[in-house]
Amino acid sequence: MIMNTKYKEIIAHIRSLYPGRESIPLHEPVFAGNEKKYLLDCIDSTYVSSVGKYVDKFESMIRDYTGAGYAVATVNGTAALHIALKLAGVKAGDLVITQPLTYIATCNAIAYCGAEPVFTDIAEKSLGMSAEKLEQWLQENTVLEQTSDPDLPFRRIEKTSHRPVSACVPMHTFGHPCEIDRIAEICKTSNIALVEDSAESLGSTYKGKHTGNYGLMGVFSFNGNKTITTGGGGMIITGDESLARLAKHLTTQARTPHGWKIEHDQIGHNYRMPNLNAALGCAQIERIGDLIRSKRELAGNYAEFFRGLDIPFVTEPADSQSNYWLNSILLDNEQERDAFLQLCHDNGVLARPCWALMHNLPMFRHCLKSGLTMAESIEARLVNIPSGARL
Ligand SMILES: Cc1ncc(COP(=O)(O)O)c(C=O)c1O
Repeated sequence: MIMNTKYKEIIAHIRSLYPGRESIPLHEPVFAGNEKKYLLDCIDSTYVSSVGKYVDKFESMIRDYTGAGYAVATVNGTAALHIALKLAGVKAGDLVITQPLTYIATCNAIAYCGAEPVFTDIAEKSLGMSAEKLEQWLQENTVLEQTSDPDLPFRRIEKTSHRPVSACVPMHTFGHPCEIDRIAEICKTSNIALVEDSAESLGSTYKGKHTGNYGLMGVFSFNGNKTITTGGGGMIITGDESLARLAKHLTTQARTPHGWKIEHDQIGHNYRMPNLNAALGCAQIERIGDLIRSKRELAGNYAEFFRGLDIPFVTEPADSQSNYWLNSILLDNEQERDAFLQLCHDNGVLARPCWALMHNLPMFRHCLKSGLTMAESIEARLVNIPSGARL
């Protein structure tokens, strides 16, 4: 009964933040800049597809904004992850460490490489991969093995299955940076490639460095629900010029450059971002400062409000600046979570629980995992509340 009164108060507060709305989505795009102008320019030029100036422009804007050396645009974030893992050397039969609390795309991209995820637990503060749990799993379950391959003299092997652990994919959950410097250090000393799933964290920094820049490659998504959108789209960032060149090659059907001949030198992918989508992206990133300012101001409002109600609100972890892509609260248990969600939906507030944990899904149930008590506890209690910028 007490909770019910609190829940009604929360819903009233959320509705007051988005006045005049019948139903309040979790996140929606804001098109208040040059979107129509650039899209029209694109249509007038007839370059709407795989060639055009906006793809190059959007890549260079993302590069400048994130401080990355190189940026390669893709058709979506899942494709970007797939190519990043492939270039990180992930092969069929390998194991790739990730977290159980993530969006399905992280694990699907691992599976597209013929590899299998291994799940280690998340940290309470960031909701992303716990550096401590990662290190513990590696110490207890893997060894370094010498190989006869001069390009890869040592590789990390899982002891019981004898399968190579070739990469680690931490995810910056809801935009909050995970303990990425410690994770990068662990991966380096363990001979494991680090690919950051930064799909949700454009605009989020850790110790002053933009997320996505800590490993071999980082990946962003510009799906319609993200901080900025291209309709559908993704990006790989890296500091390695040869990896960037290969990423461009693989995402453009591995076509060999030539004025007019059409030849391909390996099996590639049709993963390039169309010019139309990039045009939208250019207009969107011009406004990213305002969007993130508005989202952080909203998070500040929520933090103060939930402190008054004594309900935990997830704030940015130490040493980080979050884009607060999705705001979250933690309720007492699953029953409370579901009761609150039902009331929200009955009142036009489209809050939602987090994703079902990956290790509980039929495709990944058999995969290796460590104790996942933090992820289980968070999944049962977390609710994402409306987080769209108010501009
Ligand atoms: C954590 C995470 N990884 C990957 C993706 C995949 O991005 P996309 O939807 O652009 O393929 C998303 C978002 O959708 C995501 O949230």
